[in-house]
Amino acid sequence: MRKVLILASGNGSNAANISKFLKKTDSKNEIKVLCNVKKAGVFNKMKNLKIPCILLENNFNILLIKECQNFQPDLIILAGFLKKIPAELIVVFKKKIINIHPSLLPKYGGKGMYGDNVHNQVLMNKEKETGITIHYVNEKYDKGEIIFQKKINLNKNETLSTINAKVKSLEMKYFPIAIHQLLYGSEY
Ligand code: GAR
Repeated sequence: MRKVLILASGNGSNAANISKFLKKTDSKNEIKVLCNVKKAGVFNKMKNLKIPCILLENNFNILLIKECQNFQPDLIILAGFLKKIPAELIVVFKKKIINIHPSLLPKYGGKGMYGDNVHNQVLMNKEKETGITIHYVNEKYDKGEIIFQKKINLNKNETLSTINAKVKSLEMKYFPIAIHQLLYGSEY
């Protein structure tokens, strides 16, 4: 049995995909989702999966630290989460906080580089490839040690939506695999 805390700010497709995967791996796995955006799509997705999803709007950092102290997760997963993680959590949960980023870091990372902003830059610069990066979280946005990257080729006719779809399919496939490796120390 593993305990996993997922942090999300948006649509929640990664949060839902990870949750389904973890429940399939072991139905006793405990999953909790925290979200800082009231209208985020993640709430409905989690409701359908019967997984607790809690809104932390004000005093986010203080409440997040409390949740982590009470829940004692084996892994904290940032799945489309926009806020910076408090430094004290990074110290306590060293190598236990991971993030997924929709580009090949260090390219297109940093503050404000989120979702479609990233893909728009990739498109504007006519990149020939993009991909995903899964990395540990440290005190700087998108700068923590890289755990896993996967590339995909881009062609001349890409649009925002084709890049989005390609990157999303990488996320759906590889994020659960990387999480399994971290939680169980073995390949899925
Ligand atoms: C994902 O594509 C994730 O890589 C990205 O936000 C999206 C969230 O989608 N994260 C970042 O850009 C972090 N800087 P989702 O809410 O449907 O999982």
